[in-house]
Amino acid sequence: MAKMYIIGGTASKNVAEELSSLLKMPLAKTISKRFPDNEFYFRIIDNIKGKDVIIVQTTYPDPNLVELFIIQNAVEEAKAKKITVVIPYYGYARQDKKFQEGEPISAKAIAGLISLNADRVITVDPHKEHILDFFSTSAYSCTAVPEIAKYLKKKKIDLVLAPDKGALDRAKQVSDMINCDYDYMEKTRIDGNTVEMKPKKLQVKNKNVAIVDDIISTGGTMALAIKELKKQGAGKIYVACTHGLFASDSIKRLKQAGCNEIISTDTIQSKYSKVKIAPCIVDLIK
Ligand code: R5P
Repeated sequence: MAKMYIIGGTASKNVAEELSSLLKMPLAKTISKRFPDNEFYFRIIDNIKGKDVIIVQTTYPDPNLVELFIIQNAVEEAKAKKITVVIPYYGYARQDKKFQEGEPISAKAIAGLISLNADRVITVDPHKEHILDFFSTSAYSCTAVPEIAKYLKKKKIDLVLAPDKGALDRAKQVSDMINCDYDYMEKTRIDGNTVEMKPKKLQVKNKNVAIVDDIISTGGTMALAIKELKKQGAGKIYVACTHGLFASDSIKRLKQAGCNEIISTDTIQSKYSKVKIAPCIVDLIK
């Protein structure tokens, strides 16, 4: 009988399977389905009483968050010994403070609820590291940077660019790993849909550039950076992110701006999930 089990929610079956094979830990037998009114049903078939259980579930979009709560409860009710919750993409992390009076701290609200049935939480490239403090249980993060760098290494990149100063550290880490230069753009966010980017002279003529960020949502940030790079005569332009939310017409926006390739990890599954995240998570679990 196994000592530990992995349970993947429907949003993160891919990551759960990868972790199971890398860690040589079995996936618990479960049933998940939707009732006719779309409410979520879950059942654990294996006996997990007294076992360590790892639940893997991205919390975006919102129905996946509810799924996570239901799975956590099932694991708790089945009397697991220790519950680790792996959240490949932790949503709501961008509302990590009150930007205006009357707003919630959504990252804190969600963390509080997840902590109710978790002994340990692990997430990947949270938008801001301090959101880990919002969990009342021990919380850790790992980064997709080494795996993204490994992918970009095959592309003959001359410059890694951060679309804003906040992403500079990530760009530097990637550039160190693939041995090229790095720089950043100056971005100001106007609202959830609009960003402004100040033109900045970059040494990009005929150079292949990879723009690296934690999230692509509307694609607005990346599209502006691509346009500026195009104006300055860049060669091939790659955009890479950990979390590809790809909201509304973001893909069209990126392609129209002149992007040569869109790269994301599988924290959120899409056809752009070219980088597997599980290898970044295994060490933290061990
Ligand atoms: C913001 O600080 C983040 O790091 C990303 O730059 C942002 O979430 C991307 O959003 P969008 O694709 O909507 O511009």
